[in-house]
Amino acid sequence: MDDIQALRTYLDETGKASRRYLPTRREGEHLQVIAVVNFKGGSGKTTSAAHLAQHLALQGFRVLAVDLDPQASLSALHGYQPEFDVEENGTLYGAIRYDDSRRELSDIIRRTYFPLLDIVPANIELMEFEHETPKALAQRQSGDPLFFARVATVLGSVEANYDVVVIDCPPQLGFLTLSALCAATAVLIPVHPQMLDVMSMSQFLLMTSDLLEVVAKAGGNMNYDWMRYLVTRYEPGDGPQAQMVGFMRSLFGDRMITNMMLKSTAISDAGITKQTLYEVPREQFTRSTYDRAMESLDGVNGEIQNLMQVAWGRT
Ligand SMILES: Nc1ncnc2c1ncn2[C@@H]1O[C@H](COP(=O)(O)OP(=O)(O)OP(=O)(O)O)[C@@H](O)[C@H]1O
Ligand SMILES: [Mg+2]
Repeated sequence: MDDIQALRTYLDETGKASRRYLPTRREGEHLQVIAVVNFKGGSGKTTSAAHLAQHLALQGFRVLAVDLDPQASLSALHGYQPEFDVEENGTLYGAIRYDDSRRELSDIIRRTYFPLLDIVPANIELMEFEHETPKALAQRQSGDPLFFARVATVLGSVEANYDVVVIDCPPQLGFLTLSALCAATAVLIPVHPQMLDVMSMSQFLLMTSDLLEVVAKAGGNMNYDWMRYLVTRYEPGDGPQAQMVGFMRSLFGDRMITNMMLKSTAISDAGITKQTLYEVPREQFTRSTYDRAMESLDGVNGEIQNLMQVAWGRT
């Protein structure tokens, strides 16, 4: 990967190639912040966020993955065990906390073994933000920035180093998730196509829209470049799932990512060893299993990359 990146840089610097090989953002293009949200547990948020972040890094984007879930699955996938490897004030909470122990986000960000991919790891201390925010709201002086601006502000402090930020949200609609939604320029909602999951998602969206209305009235930013539903753990042979997908397509139309994330033992098996499908060798699986999973992942992530290009106004 380092060699490929060096080649991209070389080709662009010599200026002889007819195209650009580094996809990094150019003048006037904003940092994209993609929030992966849904309060239904197990809807595939972390799996989608991890594969998206790694896909974009492989393509040559400078990526910051933010683990906002106290359960820290995204961190664990990248080798940071929340109990052992993440010190006090080592999560995003360290940068958005209300008291004097606050630190610079740049001191919290860690490298991953993936070229171009950095991470803000998580652990249980993130829960403090849920407890401290109501207190801060009660003591707030007029003119103080509100809680929802905090994540956006700290991301702004490292913006020059990245093209895109991918935030893995916790499965709940708390202050962390709301703050992520306010920092986001785009929203991805993974959903497993089953009745109870879709009902739960619709509850989530109703509650979110009520809360965001309040936040917007208080001056929160609610402009998104795009918002998409992503069907996860899809099993093509499953009749009811196919029906549910049809129903969602008729309701949501082009708000759905056309490709779907297939349910695959290649993805869940890779997860057992804390890896993504981009990290395991193809020989480790039945080829057709691996290829099907990879094709579905590339389809999904390619579409998202396309949405990013459009948001930057590229053709
Ligand atoms: N496409 C897939 N194929 C097979 N297994 C999958 C797939 N996507 C997710 N899984 C498995 O489903 C489980 C839940 O996925 P994941 O952790 O991504 O969901 P989540 O929404 O982040 O959960 P939580 O709400 O707890 O944060 C994991 O064990 C994961 O390995
Ligand atoms: Mg998760």
